[in-house]
Amino acid sequence: PKTSITLIIMEGTKTRPEIGRFFGFDHVLFWVGNAYQAASFYCSRFGFEYLAYQGLQTGERNYATHVVQAGKIRFAFASSYGPYEHKDETMAKHLTQHGDGVRDIAFGVEDAVKVYETAISRGAKCAGKPRTISDEHGTVILASVHTYGDTIHTFVQRKVDGKEYTGVFLPGFKEHFLKDPLNEVLPATKLDIIDHIVGNGYENDMVPTADWYEKTLDFHRFWSIDDKMMHTDYSALNSIVMADFDEVIKMPINEPAKGKKKSQIQEYCDFYAGAGVQHLALKTENIIDAVAALRKRGVDFLPIPKSYYDNFRKALPNLNIKVQEDIDTIEKLGLLIDYDDNGYLLQLFTKPLEDRPTVFIEIIQRRNFGGFGAGNFKSLFKALEDEQDKRGNLTDM
Ligand code: FE2
Repeated sequence: PKTSITLIIMEGTKTRPEIGRFFGFDHVLFWVGNAYQAASFYCSRFGFEYLAYQGLQTGERNYATHVVQAGKIRFAFASSYGPYEHKDETMAKHLTQHGDGVRDIAFGVEDAVKVYETAISRGAKCAGKPRTISDEHGTVILASVHTYGDTIHTFVQRKVDGKEYTGVFLPGFKEHFLKDPLNEVLPATKLDIIDHIVGNGYENDMVPTADWYEKTLDFHRFWSIDDKMMHTDYSALNSIVMADFDEVIKMPINEPAKGKKKSQIQEYCDFYAGAGVQHLALKTENIIDAVAALRKRGVDFLPIPKSYYDNFRKALPNLNIKVQEDIDTIEKLGLLIDYDDNGYLLQLFTKPLEDRPTVFIEIIQRRNFGGFGAGNFKSLFKALEDEQDKRGNLTDM
């Protein structure tokens, strides 16, 4: 039949693109006002462990960087020592304009120079030429390009001339001098890996940004949704998810769409003063334990109305899926559920993690379901808009 022929042809055209292999999210670098305290917050609240440090004590005179880890998730928090940096004012300007936020989404790659040079030849803007850095644990090659807003991507190659880098994080970093004693007494948060990282931009920014990932990094459109589905009475947004060839990196790109009131995406752009990272989704294999632990540690999640669970209980008997988790527990923990005929996902979202209503975290568990929670957007948006309204930002357009 015709459909299977189409499938065969599509399989046949799936050859690895020229740019080479991406291994996934290597780490995420946040530029913040006080890296020492920010790192502590992610350890005590989110159960990260201190991993690596670079600063005055390691001979670094310009920046302090504290790296924390949960499962395979690595967050690095960096601050400047001076009122401005010795070489330029990039970090100081970033902090003044955006507040604490994500500067760099670093991807692990097979060949950093090749990815960089391919991207540059296709029009990407340099954010750091290829550099080879070494210490007693080996060698790493880094290269960086600009993406949306003031955000950059660093390509991290940890295997050079057949030898894997064996240090704690990157050359120049030492093992962290701290250990959070709270992690010994509080329950483990069981966070595993970064599932996706979402960027927010302005109206009409989304398609050019998605095209940029396709053109410069050989990513493809993995999933998309428009404002016809993603809207409430008040606000709307569009989203396209871009992924690398192996689909180990997923980067949803959002833009606001016209609604009666200001879109939550526009609120983000107003307060971040530009396009940037809206949320980081952290995957767990046990969201029940994970969220129970995170709540016990004082993580502040978006509240979900009781009606959401009443409606879900009514719909459940007619669904093809078998939900393994207890619905009362799902409700107690405030989890959202999205599904199709093959599987489902459970997710929930923190409130913004800074005073500015900008970056937040999603916790997600997938059970044979690759979507992004589209079925939850209406109830989620209602919860988001209630918070937006409390901030005085659910204003007329
Ligand atoms: Fe998400």
